[in-house]
Amino acid sequence: MLDTFPVPSNTACARLGLLARIGRFLSTEDDAASALSEVLRWLDRDQGYARGVVTLLNDAEDEIAADITAAGVPTDTGILMRYRPGEGITGRAIATNTPIYLAGVKPKDGFLDRSGLRQGLDLARLAFFCVPIQYRGKAVGALSADRPLSDVGDPEGDLRLLSEVAYLVGPFVQRRRLEDRLEAYQRVHVATFDRLVGRSPAMEAVTRLAAKVAGVDTSVLITGETGTGKGVLAQLIHDLSPRRAGPCIEVNCGAIPESLVESELFGHEKGAFTGAAARRAGVFERAQGGTVFLDEIGELPPAVQTRLLRVLQTKRFERVGGSETIVSDARIIAATNRHLEGDIVAGRFRSDLYYRLNVFPIHMPPLRERGKADMMLLADAFVERFSREMGKTIVRIDTPAIDMLTAYHWPGNVREMENVIERAAVMAEGDVIHGHHLPPSLQLNRYQTKPGQGASSEDRGFADRVANFEIELITEALKDTSGNQSQAAKRLGLSKRMIQYKIRLYGIDWQRFK
Ligand SMILES: Nc1ncnc2c1ncn2[C@@H]1O[C@H](COP(=O)(O)OP(=O)(O)O)[C@@H](O)[C@H]1O
Ligand SMILES: [Mg+2]
Repeated sequence: MLDTFPVPSNTACARLGLLARIGRFLSTEDDAASALSEVLRWLDRDQGYARGVVTLLNDAEDEIAADITAAGVPTDTGILMRYRPGEGITGRAIATNTPIYLAGVKPKDGFLDRSGLRQGLDLARLAFFCVPIQYRGKAVGALSADRPLSDVGDPEGDLRLLSEVAYLVGPFVQRRRLEDRLEAYQRVHVATFDRLVGRSPAMEAVTRLAAKVAGVDTSVLITGETGTGKGVLAQLIHDLSPRRAGPCIEVNCGAIPESLVESELFGHEKGAFTGAAARRAGVFERAQGGTVFLDEIGELPPAVQTRLLRVLQTKRFERVGGSETIVSDARIIAATNRHLEGDIVAGRFRSDLYYRLNVFPIHMPPLRERGKADMMLLADAFVERFSREMGKTIVRIDTPAIDMLTAYHWPGNVREMENVIERAAVMAEGDVIHGHHLPPSLQLNRYQTKPGQGASSEDRGFADRVANFEIELITEALKDTSGNQSQAAKRLGLSKRMIQYKIRLYGIDWQRFK
């Protein structure tokens, strides 16, 4: 076999032998990461290309991660080894889809060595090679390595060999990218499941944006009506971010008295104001390495807006009554249910702060715009949760109740539905939630007598509730009898003529039970 003969490493024959061996090896390998790692080891052992790294362009093509080294797949360093396309030598090789050779690395070359593999080495004496890895002609990653400058006779030849290797590993890098995408997707899926229920396109878009922005420190502004899940989303972004091990401190800017907001956020020195008996660290100080979630940011008093803007711009602040400047390293997520643009026009909110916060806006759609499927997913999730918490065994929501839940316009959004289902779970005697377990606001919405019918509005409310109860009974009976009107009537102790009359009166779509 070729690889059993000792051949001088720099001969064309040896290089061809290495390529042949890599080709053969890859054709039998399944695990992309370990195969790539093995190839890097061979490059080092047989040809003297040290500290080889395979770098991957992520799926969104907005980030490059030094993913695989000869030692395998790094776990902890992964966060450090991230580049933007175009950044560093590797980023440039990928962005321009051309090989790069540096005869000795000088600081001005833009060499970042985020992998940290070359710490303590004399970079000026290293020859550095970086070749793009292509898949179907497109750069999807890079292969980089170095060797002592004194060993390099034919750098063009080196780049040619490495490009050939890059060509062979292209499909493996592509596979690894797909695996990464799957892992990232699963991570997001596991983190969001239960907490951010909903699979409508509008909610999928929100989750995608959240997953995307989580990886970077950009500030996020979450907008949306009250009860749409802005708080849930903020926590989710934190949990998906590299800061997940750090604190996530929430401040409701509208709930703290104006005079105390400043000291809550930035802390105070002893004696800064009456009642400041001791020095106290503020939220920004305590959230080092983590996230500050500023809820109801529109309620922030003007003086505090100014200080917050400074934190965003310079990362610096002082405690109230103090002169020591503290550097903040917290990531900021803000939320509001107000139209801040209107507040800016009215002079209540600083426009510069708004633009600084609004780098990455995410809008939480109101529940009524998410569609019936999402409403049902949420209702089911809440039924399951409250049933469990109350030690009940509620297993389903009946059809009339589903109709009422999905027809309602939910001004209080998800929070309102949460409350409605909790109430229904308390009311339910058996294992089914019926329409009459839902609050009157949903009942009236479903069947309303036309004006003129019934005397006073109180009478009408009563008549409507009776009507809704009738609708519910008839719908259930029709469902149980697969839309057979005679059988349904018999079950309810009604005449056939009576049930036909009620079906027509209430506009019940009996055909759908057939
Ligand atoms: N998509 C969702 N899936 C499950 N629960 C949700 C969802 N959105 C919101 N909730 C729940 O609804 C309530 C209101 O959410 P919250 O984040 O406080 O809304 P907001 O901050 O927009 O007023 C919370 O109890 C939260 O757990
Ligand atoms: Mg909230």
